[in-house]
Amino acid sequence: MELRTLGQSGTPVGEIGYGAMGLTWAYGEPIRADREADAIALIHRAIDLGVTLFDTAEVYGPFTNEELLGKAIKGKRDQVVVATKTGFVPQPAGAPLRRDGQPEVIKRAVEGSLRRLGIDVIDLYQLHRVDPNVPVEESVGAMAELVAAGKVRLIGLSEVDVETLQRANAVHPIATLQSELSLWTRDALPEILPWCKAHGVGFLAFSPLGRGFLTGRLAQRDIAPTDFRATLPRFQGENFDRNHRLVEQVEAVARRAGVTNGQVALAWALAQGENVIPIPGTKRIAYLEENVGAANVRLSAADLAELNALEAPVGSRYAAT
Ligand SMILES: NC(=O)c1ccc[n+]([C@@H]2O[C@H](COP(=O)([O-])OP(=O)(O)OC[C@H]3O[C@@H](n4cnc5c(N)ncnc54)[C@H](OP(=O)(O)O)[C@@H]3O)[C@@H](O)[C@H]2O)c1
Repeated sequence: MELRTLGQSGTPVGEIGYGAMGLTWAYGEPIRADREADAIALIHRAIDLGVTLFDTAEVYGPFTNEELLGKAIKGKRDQVVVATKTGFVPQPAGAPLRRDGQPEVIKRAVEGSLRRLGIDVIDLYQLHRVDPNVPVEESVGAMAELVAAGKVRLIGLSEVDVETLQRANAVHPIATLQSELSLWTRDALPEILPWCKAHGVGFLAFSPLGRGFLTGRLAQRDIAPTDFRATLPRFQGENFDRNHRLVEQVEAVARRAGVTNGQVALAWALAQGENVIPIPGTKRIAYLEENVGAANVRLSAADLAELNALEAPVGSRYAAT
């Protein structure tokens, strides 16, 4: 797989990364101890295929996702770039998330992440969300202290606007922004992505498959009431069916290009800029292999134009609360 860099840091990573969240959180049944070996085998397969960037977070699980990734990368530390996140207070499963970006909380959280991941330095430490009660300068200032202490190599943010990026970047160089970017979520394209390109900030495109929807393989009946997607307006009620026309349009391009819908979605994300690194997630090796295969897909200008002209989906990304 070809390499891209984590922004101005110059850290090389395979151009398609892997998001581990769904292994133990948010989508369907989490991988439990009896199937842990399968998840570890999947991560090893990703490494074999050239994936180097692995994304997790303290709050995924909570904790179990970092623990699982830690087990999988044991003995393979030099082959992976580990990205995790802080800034949400871990809650019991199902409880609403609460942001906390206080410096003391971040400095405490990093110790747990290092322990669970079984590493002595986190390659990319990301602020999962900015805490509205704590100026971003204070949260990033605490993360910069962790860089100085040798516990973290690079700092990233998630889901912030340009003004917040500027404020944070003035405190410490921001290596990456992680935000949702896909064929049905293009909010970052007008301002945020151009700013990142101009300032040497890498862009980790999360949910690049539209949380599975864009692949055309997700049926509404697959979404249990406890699945996080059940809370998202685009997946609810008749919105799900109305959004299916997007899948059909992606499918038309996929059929012409002789690839799958998911590969079209990932190739489109890669085409948005050299600084974009999609981080799709999956529990299945077959899907992983297919997703990594998208690195070899080059969409024509006509295909990209058709995809750029897709209508907006029905329903917002997140519920109002
Ligand atoms: N910063 C943030 O706030 C934030 C928010 C969301 C996600 N993320 C990060 O981004 C990563 C990826 O996002 P995501 O997991 O939300 O969404 P995604 O990668 O767009 O989609 C994942 C879903 O798609 C399915 N899938 C994957 N490959 C497929 C294929 N080839 N064919 C059919 N279905 C396929 C998976 O199913 P199976 O699992 O059943 O295989 C899973 O349900 C996460 O793991 C996490 O690291 C970050």
